[in-house]
Amino acid sequence: MLPLLFAALLLAPALAAVSRPRPVVARGDGIVRVPVNAIAAPPPNLRARQNGVEVENQRRGTRYAVDIEVGTPRQKLTLLLDTGSPDTWVNPMCDTANLPADCRAFPQFDFTKSTSLKTTNARDVLVYGIGNASVAYVLETVVIGSARITNQVIGIAFKSYDIPLGIFGISPPVTGDNKYPYVLDMMATQGLIKSRAFSLDLRGIDNPNGAIIFGGIDTGKYIGALAKRPMLSPQQSPGGANRYYVAMTGVGVTFPDGTTAKAEALSVPMFLDSGSTFSYLPTPIYQAFTAFFTDGQRDPKSNYYFVPCDVRKLAGSIDFYFGSKTIRVLLNDFIWEAQGQCVLGVLPNDDEPTLGDTFLRAAYVVFDQDNRNIHLAQAADCGTNLVAIGSGADAVPSSAGRCSAPPMPTAKADNADVKAARAPSNAFAGTALTGMALGPGPA
Ligand SMILES: *[C@@H]1O[C@H](CO)[C@@H](O)[C@H](O)[C@H]1NC(C)=O
Repeated sequence: MLPLLFAALLLAPALAAVSRPRPVVARGDGIVRVPVNAIAAPPPNLRARQNGVEVENQRRGTRYAVDIEVGTPRQKLTLLLDTGSPDTWVNPMCDTANLPADCRAFPQFDFTKSTSLKTTNARDVLVYGIGNASVAYVLETVVIGSARITNQVIGIAFKSYDIPLGIFGISPPVTGDNKYPYVLDMMATQGLIKSRAFSLDLRGIDNPNGAIIFGGIDTGKYIGALAKRPMLSPQQSPGGANRYYVAMTGVGVTFPDGTTAKAEALSVPMFLDSGSTFSYLPTPIYQAFTAFFTDGQRDPKSNYYFVPCDVRKLAGSIDFYFGSKTIRVLLNDFIWEAQGQCVLGVLPNDDEPTLGDTFLRAAYVVFDQDNRNIHLAQAADCGTNLVAIGSGADAVPSSAGRCSAPPMPTAKADNADVKAARAPSNAFAGTALTGMALGPGPA
């Protein structure tokens, strides 16, 4: 999700008091591991794509959520995990949600029953890429995994549109200034983690082992070394936004026969957004990817690129380069299937290029807010080995992943007739990308 700050928040004195920094003394091991659950939206109706509203609804496919507990006594809630926004809030209005029945399936926070709730005078309107929420801020006890955060500022919605679940925000302040201490800030100042850093391991919709680890990494969930890349400054990011932007230096494909094609020496700021189902790439890159699928067809209304579903069974991957690190997304993970139709998990966007869930499922990513670094590795699953993230410049351990690279899948014989092999003219070496004037800098 892509929130924009809509209204300046008037900080209540109660909130200001909470922001006083305290010495960090980690309690316990300073690692807070929390399962991340994939929630599938009802099957989208791709055939009804004549209707613009339908198309918007379809983009709301799979979402990743965490369970937390709020209040005293504790009430269990399910919130969307969003690396694209900083605020945490509960109780969307289901009547005006885009998926009312889905919304109603989740419990709401009954604040009248909590003895730990403290009210404030602060309110805000939070505007997202899809939907918005008007919230009143309160101070509450929030429990996530083994961490119990006291006096956390959370919003309680009194109006919201097009949002079916509350949101657990873990981005830095998008406009550069904290409105108040966010959840990650409070976990650090209350000594629950040693620094403001977490790792994210999203898994496929059918794999229940996804997790977010605050203050730690799991070396049983990736291959090789974690590559450290700077998080771009707001001056280097589209719209001057302070987000988890990282420079992507190339894109490419690995063909079913194992050969690769790539466009290098790019410098495209990409926003890592767990709240986005699809990835959004600059138009020339989107076009180069779609050209690879010679059997596919773009729907001009939605920009969805439809491909034969058999393509999912082909060996091969969509490749993203970050300096020396390559993250390969297998075709099976990059192509989205609904009701027997298949679309590439990518749409064109020149203003805010985003690597959403279709990318994050293939990556193990450590977000280090204190040092403003992003660490990336190819995700895998070979057991569990938690290592704490400390504090200071080298807080994130350089431990290599314990997993080894799986063999490249080979094309199955029954797909031999699928014509998704090499595009007739190698799109990635062609003119589409060479003239691209994309570099870090406000769009
Ligand atoms: C919130 O969304 C509703 C419904 O789309 C819209 O009418 C309203 O203008 C939005 N509010 C803001 C502040 O964007």
